[in-house]
Amino acid sequence: MSTARIRIGLHGAMGRMGLRLIQLIAQDPRVELAAAIDRAKLGEDAGAAAGVGPLGVVVRGLDAVADTPLDVVIDYSHPSAVAEAADRCRLAKVALVVGTTGLDADARRALEAASAEVPVLASPNTSRAVNLLFKLVAQAAAGMGPEADVEIVERHHRLKKDSPSGTALRLAEVVTASTGAGPLVHGREGQVGERPRGEIGMHAVRAGDCPGEHTVLFAVAGDTLELTHRALNRDGFARGAIDAAVFLAGKAPGSYSMADVLESTP
Ligand SMILES: NC(=O)c1ccc[n+]([C@@H]2O[C@H](COP(=O)([O-])OP(=O)(O)OC[C@H]3O[C@@H](n4cnc5c(N)ncnc54)[C@H](OP(=O)(O)O)[C@@H]3O)[C@@H](O)[C@H]2O)c1
Repeated sequence: MSTARIRIGLHGAMGRMGLRLIQLIAQDPRVELAAAIDRAKLGEDAGAAAGVGPLGVVVRGLDAVADTPLDVVIDYSHPSAVAEAADRCRLAKVALVVGTTGLDADARRALEAASAEVPVLASPNTSRAVNLLFKLVAQAAAGMGPEADVEIVERHHRLKKDSPSGTALRLAEVVTASTGAGPLVHGREGQVGERPRGEIGMHAVRAGDCPGEHTVLFAVAGDTLELTHRALNRDGFARGAIDAAVFLAGKAPGSYSMADVLESTP
């Protein structure tokens, strides 16, 4: 007996993540692209734009959330567009996965309001491997102890809009939750003096077309531990987002995390 495919609305469909998601959704028997949503390339066939051949799904604005039968919206758009996407999903009773980073207070408020009425999962990094890195960093921070100097270095393509990355900020939160380390110090320049104990150094490299790298370095005298995740392309983020959408479909309203997705499927 075949089960119905989960109907996905993709917001930011014509962006870098969106186009790769269209390709991977087309190969995944669990899901189907039901709506392609963007402000660019309106009226174009989304499948043709993504190079998988015509899918009969034309690119539309956020109105599509209200008038297309959808199970889950996946959002990789722009921080300024997330609040409206969340409001539309709340009103249409559609689950929402948000991968967009750099969310402002408006977007966070709208996501919280939506999570009272529909299932919502917002994650600055939807890669399974990066979510495993969060767990390993918590373990390393506790093991190295509060005396360890912690530096976070992230590297992304030159077109990335927010700095540091949402993932780097989350990694810092994980360290702080484990050892109380802080404050966060962004880069260093000039006569900054000796490094005080406890601060977390944060460094954002922007170069070329790098899809994303994060290193958390722990150092005490004579001993350094570095944990690094390297994305070779966008597939890890995109596959994790599809897994999150499959996980979220049919769930009770509430706020969910990639940790929940990882626990639900090995
Ligand atoms: N969570 C994760 O694992 C993960 C992984 C990778 C990326 N990201 C995040 O995902 C987001 C998208 O990344 P990307 O590299 O795919 O960016 P992108 O290539 O710029 O794609 C974003 C798409 O959304 C559209 N868009 C922008 N503002 C909009 C608006 N106000 N209303 C409707 N559509 C709008 C853009 O249209 P225009 O071209 O007209 O601007 C573009 O088609 C970023 O926040 C990025 O940091 C998250």
